[in-house]
Amino acid sequence: MCGIFAYINYLVPRDRKFILDCLIKGLQRLEYRGYDSAGIAFDGGNESPDVIKKPETKIVKKKGKVRALEEELRCEKDMKLDIEYDIHCGIAHTRWATHGAPCAINSHPQRSDVNNEFVVVHNGIVTNYRDIKKVLESKDYVFESETDTEVIAKLCKYVYDHRENEDMSFRELVEVVIAQLEGAFALCFKSIHYPSQCVGTRRGSPLLIGVKTKGNLSSNFVPILYRDNRGREFQDDVAYNREGTDSAFKRSFSTTDFEVSGDIKAAEYFFASDASAIIEHTNRVIYLEDDDVAAVMDGCLSIHRMKKEEGESMSREVQTLKMEIQQIMKGNYQYFMQKEIFEQPESVINTMRGRVNFKDKEVILGGLQDHLSEIHRCRRLLFIACGTSYHSAIATRQLLEELTELPVVVELASDFLDRRTPIFRDDICFFISQSGETADTLNALRYCKKRGALTVGITNTVGSSISRETTCGVHINAGPEIGVASTKAYTSQFISLVMFGLVMNQDRISTRSRRNEIIEALENLPNLIKEVLEMDEDIKKLAEELYEQKSILLMGRGFNYATCLEGALKIKELTYLHSEGILAGELKHGPLALVDKAMPVIMIIMKDSMYTKCQNALHEVTARGCAPILICQKGDKESQSKASRVIELPGTVDCLQGILCVIPLQLLAFHTAVLRGYDVDCPRNLAKSVTVE
Ligand code: UD1
Ligand code: M6R
Repeated sequence: MCGIFAYINYLVPRDRKFILDCLIKGLQRLEYRGYDSAGIAFDGGNESPDVIKKPETKIVKKKGKVRALEEELRCEKDMKLDIEYDIHCGIAHTRWATHGAPCAINSHPQRSDVNNEFVVVHNGIVTNYRDIKKVLESKDYVFESETDTEVIAKLCKYVYDHRENEDMSFRELVEVVIAQLEGAFALCFKSIHYPSQCVGTRRGSPLLIGVKTKGNLSSNFVPILYRDNRGREFQDDVAYNREGTDSAFKRSFSTTDFEVSGDIKAAEYFFASDASAIIEHTNRVIYLEDDDVAAVMDGCLSIHRMKKEEGESMSREVQTLKMEIQQIMKGNYQYFMQKEIFEQPESVINTMRGRVNFKDKEVILGGLQDHLSEIHRCRRLLFIACGTSYHSAIATRQLLEELTELPVVVELASDFLDRRTPIFRDDICFFISQSGETADTLNALRYCKKRGALTVGITNTVGSSISRETTCGVHINAGPEIGVASTKAYTSQFISLVMFGLVMNQDRISTRSRRNEIIEALENLPNLIKEVLEMDEDIKKLAEELYEQKSILLMGRGFNYATCLEGALKIKELTYLHSEGILAGELKHGPLALVDKAMPVIMIIMKDSMYTKCQNALHEVTARGCAPILICQKGDKESQSKASRVIELPGTVDCLQGILCVIPLQLLAFHTAVLRGYDVDCPRNLAKSVTVE
């Protein structure tokens, strides 16, 4: 929910202005993750770093957006900006409050004491913080914030002050501290006792490290170190102890892959909770695993594990991010969300790229290939998700039932967990998540895994927790989605699920013509999306008519029931208007009472098997004096005669029509929010990835 960024330069001289700008820019890239307050910690004091006897850490924090923090820094008096550091570590954080109100004192970095001996930034929640706080308070530690995070900083000082071994390293100290913590976290630490060093670790919350060195990396793997019960440090494969002389040992400690002690020329490291903060500096990153403790010391990065599980991978690959910098910028658009809506012709192509062979009418999902026979043998398919991701499963349920001929169950992750739903070994459980970090979905995944079901991820974020913890899955490849409201991820999730249905149906001859029809429609879909996007001006005019309303109802059924749910969610979260997606078949069972002349209603009527039934609903609504806004197929004169306004869409195969129908609703929510003066990318009370239950 929050964003972590840290920047460490080693023998790359940087002045304070550069360092502060770098930290602020990192936070701006992460701001979409949480944005109610922000803070940074860096080396304070105005003496030259060469003559400083005792370093000091300065913390600046501010309620509000990163812009407010930037302003605060600019107003700082007596701070030399041209002071130059050969070696330096700065840490930064942007927060979305979970414990304590958004204010400077509750924002991060949190500190151990008034001298800022240890400072920490934290994503996640420490569930046993009250117990730790009680113990520390009994030892006269005075807490200043309401956060769970403050116990971590104070615990660092406690461990440091009571250490038996004078030579305890920063990394060792952090290991002692995190051993006491329960809950989920990603953390970065800085300390005046370990100048210019940085330690980062994670458990249940993502953290990655960008690596920029002079010269090429000699290998793409960073060996992991771990300790035996006698305290000796080892590397996997063959155990190398600290005194070992084997060349592989040197690679792990000193030469590592980043040229090291002695001959290291220069290095910069970037810790971040999200790749979007790193990509402008380097595309070489290492994703940390849970319980990895990564330390940068004297320009060298080492990764250490506190315990080694049987059979786990003992190296961390330096991966090359494929993300382009333009992908995370707004380009010519005013808002990320707007850019992401308009990216859809391209993002749906990326979802299908290399997977759908339009010529031979074949679909291959590389990530599922090895598990298909098991999936075919299953008792039922479960799709578990939250919010928009859940809607993508509702949108494709009917098609999946048709193509797989299996029972398909769609579940909201939180409710699924609340009910302790029975799960069997022969269930196949899908977890759909743009971020791959949504706590409820992740918990549902762990729940199903424990019960022996095969788990499949449908995620947009490579390296995310859901992507890694599922047995197999499909990356939807929609590219980074920054706007809090999910748009292009929805259409790509939709297509991924359709592709899954087609894969399952591959060998069935009786349904070949249906398959072919869908695959042909997939090929043409990007063009049709472009056509729909050209209606932007018309939708804007519609928004101008609607933006002062109090409520908007959306009605539809069949393949477009999910479109109504998704459209209503977009309107709610962006415009703060009341909006409801109503199954048209349910009108007479209650919702019709809401309808009168004054109530704005949007109805979706497509020329599919539900056409006649939708016409009936239209009559029910018009008979109450309401002239709805109609989303219908081009040339459907019969429906149009009863509408106050018409959005005419190109037609496609029934099961994909929902993709075209949702786009005008995305645009409507967007324009309405702008007209109402709201921040489209950061709606109030929400955050991009909901990593708390
Ligand atoms: C992979 C490559 C892609 C390349 C393509 C063609 C990656 C990430 N993808 O795509 O760049 O163009 O081969 O050779 O390198 N997985 C999960 N859970 C999830 C999502 C995925 O376990 O939630 C697993 C899959 O089972 C698979 C791996 O991650 O083992 C990559 O998945 P995906 O990117 O979807 O596979 P490909 O389409 O084969
Ligand atoms: O990252 P996820 O797909 O798991 O997120 C699930 C929901 O939090 C998310 O879709 C949310 O509903 C969106 N903000 C809606 O636009």
